Amino acid sequence: MTDNTIRTTAGAPWGSNQDSKTVGARGPLLLENYQLIEKLAHQNRERIPERTVHAKGSGAYGTFTVTKDITAYTRAAIFSEVGKKTELLARFSTVAGERGAADAERDVRGFSLKFYTDEGNWDLVGNNTPVFFVRDPIKFPDFIHTQKRHPRTNMRSATAMWDFWSLSPESLHQVAILFSDRGLPQGYRFMNGYGSHTYSLWNAQGERFWVKFHFKTRQGHRHWTNSEANEVIGRDRESSQADLYHAIERGEHPQWTVFIQIMAEAEAERVSFNPFDVTKVWSQKDFPLHEVGVMELNRNPQNYFAEMEQASFSPSNIVPGIGFSPDRMLQGRLFAYADAHRYRVGTHYEMLPVNRPKMPVKNYHLDGPMRFDAPHPGDGEYYEPNSFGGPTEDRSVIEPPLRVSGDIGFYEHRADGDDFAQPRVLFRMFDAGQRERFFENFAGAMQGVPQHIVDRQLALFEKADPEWAQGVRRAIEKDKPVGHASAATNQEVIAD
Ligand code: HEM
Repeated sequence: MTDNTIRTTAGAPWGSNQDSKTVGARGPLLLENYQLIEKLAHQNRERIPERTVHAKGSGAYGTFTVTKDITAYTRAAIFSEVGKKTELLARFSTVAGERGAADAERDVRGFSLKFYTDEGNWDLVGNNTPVFFVRDPIKFPDFIHTQKRHPRTNMRSATAMWDFWSLSPESLHQVAILFSDRGLPQGYRFMNGYGSHTYSLWNAQGERFWVKFHFKTRQGHRHWTNSEANEVIGRDRESSQADLYHAIERGEHPQWTVFIQIMAEAEAERVSFNPFDVTKVWSQKDFPLHEVGVMELNRNPQNYFAEMEQASFSPSNIVPGIGFSPDRMLQGRLFAYADAHRYRVGTHYEMLPVNRPKMPVKNYHLDGPMRFDAPHPGDGEYYEPNSFGGPTEDRSVIEPPLRVSGDIGFYEHRADGDDFAQPRVLFRMFDAGQRERFFENFAGAMQGVPQHIVDRQLALFEKADPEWAQGVRRAIEKDKPVGHASAATNQEVIAD
């Protein structure tokens, strides 16, 4: 027996890993062959539920380094001085596909970051787009249902997507980004990241600032056209995973410059738009980008399951000096993620090495699955308050109070602002080539969708810019004679 002998989980040496225990050479197995039973039982438990969205992803470790002083805005330890470095974990993903989906699909990309700061983990769970499709969390499950498989056909449904989008004008801005060149990055290195929501920073004097986070790629933007992507998927379903992994192995460490936009707390009441609406960007003329630091990815995970599949990112993970905002979507997300983790990974998921903060964690949570340490080794400090020296609160880390007012009610979020102005500005920034690809991308994605739904979506394009609607109409007409019968089949089943 050596240190390298296989052992059961109870530590007993394992005599045969080639042959099961049988009655005679050709006889049946015995239930007492507990090694075999243990092995099969473990295999049955090798998978955890995949993320309900963003199931396919890739990631790496790295560092965040402060390059500019923002201590006037935040007391967060991560930003305490220029030159300070903080370890981080990044995970990038597509949204709609399952865990085995191809990477080179037109989809929003997730941009999740976990900063292991001196005062706990700060997670920024954003996307490669500065806005989102819906602005109230009660619409999120409906929206995601349209992106996933149809319950009857078990296929993706363009009808469902365009039905929902055409009935949800607030989605137009994000839809425009998705069908532009930026909707299909060549890999995770070649895209920006955004916190998307408005968050807050607060400083040592207790002043609050509203902020937006931007991560600008230093590798430059690179995109596939639809036909290039089809070719890529035909030979490599893991194109983004491979690009990121191999670049890091080669020592080409991708970097992003980190910026914030800043709005003073009181200014939010004076601006002409809702600064907490995730379907809108803030004008960079009015709220310029302030450089903050640089993010670099430089180390691949050793074990994909332990470090990526079990990585648990949540917008609710903030640290002193960083806070939330009244954005309804963000508020909804503050519940959703930790709830998903407790279900998907397990009650004490934050004790896993990839999720664990860098300092010892003391609190009064007790038992449950995966509680594999022994908290409260003393006598009586397993409740609070106690007389036995147990951990206590620190009121100096409470964020400054936020004034809110209003009558409780179900307020119509659709009535809040102009859904067309910002998509119009975006559309008018596209050059001729970008516009042509934009129109073609829509036309391709609308194949097989019932005409009344297409018309309703074209009416939204029209409101943004008549040329946008005309361009898509032209592209649809052009595509028609080609007769992509097969592309339409998965839509037709459920069209009516
Ligand atoms: C993943 C819910 C909106 C970015 C997830 C997960 C849930 C969820 C349940 C899976 C978490 C897990 O199993 O680990 C929601 C809800 C939303 C919402 C309820 C709206 C109310 C957004 C928005 C963004 C976003 C607006 C970006 C700005 C992400 C990312 C992931 C994710 C990047 C993957 C996290 C990872 O890498 O593990 N979301 N989401 N989500 N969501 Fe959201």
